[in-house]
Amino acid sequence: MKPNQVKFKFANSLTDKELEFLEKMLEKGGPGEEDYVRFANMVNSFDEDAINDMRNVLHPLLRNINTTQGYAFSKPFGYAGDFLMIEKIYTNKISTDPMYKKWDIWWQKSHAATAVRNRKAYFINLMTELEQKSIHAKRVLILGSGPATDVNEYLKKNPNCKISFDLIDLDENAIAYAKGKNHEFEDKLNFVRINVLRFNTHKRYDLIWSAGLFDYFKEKHFIYLLKKYLKLLNERGELVVGNFSDKNPTRVLQEAFSAWHLNYRSEYELLKIASEAGLNQGDVMIEKEPLGVNLFMRVKLRNENHVHSKRTVPEFKDYSNN
Ligand SMILES: C[S@@+](CC[C@H](N)C(=O)[O-])C[C@H]1O[C@@H](n2cnc3c(N)ncnc32)[C@H](O)[C@@H]1O
Repeated sequence: MKPNQVKFKFANSLTDKELEFLEKMLEKGGPGEEDYVRFANMVNSFDEDAINDMRNVLHPLLRNINTTQGYAFSKPFGYAGDFLMIEKIYTNKISTDPMYKKWDIWWQKSHAATAVRNRKAYFINLMTELEQKSIHAKRVLILGSGPATDVNEYLKKNPNCKISFDLIDLDENAIAYAKGKNHEFEDKLNFVRINVLRFNTHKRYDLIWSAGLFDYFKEKHFIYLLKKYLKLLNERGELVVGNFSDKNPTRVLQEAFSAWHLNYRSEYELLKIASEAGLNQGDVMIEKEPLGVNLFMRVKLRNENHVHSKRTVPEFKDYSNN
């Protein structure tokens, strides 16, 4: 038995070569570009036991919350994809420690991280389009606003815009962070700490946006939310909901390294959900960011289908597990 097999005596699902490769990656402070394909192929071939063994071997990385992978794996706020994790992606955070720098570079170059940054650009385009539609004041509702970096970037570029934002998030830490970050725009922003399943308002919106949230919901909750929030659009309004595609090539890496699980969906599945929410084909479009990893369901109701209603939206009834 080799010495490293004594050290990692629980790593018995890995071959000697796999173990050696992982140790080498740790020693050299992460994979270099020349290792990316081998690393991805190796992890894609792992079963659950091998993934657990890999996590044991990479313990120094995965328990170091100053690395993106360690942060994602440790989940200091108790859930995957918290506002600081998303912020690390937006700001392309790379550790300055030579033992971890290459790990972060690898993570930040992944399709998943790039798609998150791309969706911020998609959002900014959406806001620009909205602003150009008319000179009137507009109202935007954001579901699961997280760090609100997308909004911040838009407002920095367009400080005189006529859009006011209602931002909903369940996590008070996310709200506190987003408020601090967007302090200079506080007259345009209204934060609400509530579960999106329970939010209600008399207001009607020109645009409702949600990214990085619906991928955590099961289909029945997705449909419920779609129906609920379509009622909050005004006659010209649009609803745009992001969901990671089942074609994300870094899905297994993300799950293996970070235990970060999403409900990945295809374009077809998103259209099926829209149909189950009672939408007509002509009301729905599926768009994507340049990598095709983050899909967007874009709904604009034609007038005859508009569900605008003076009734308030019914309270959420918990119908989980059926
Ligand atoms: C992955 S982040 C996305 C943040 C932001 N939309 C973005 O793309 O940059 C998801 C956010 O949704 C919030 N969230 C999760 N479940 C929620 C719920 N049921 N109601 C409201 N917010 C929720 C989380 O607290 C987190 O801030």
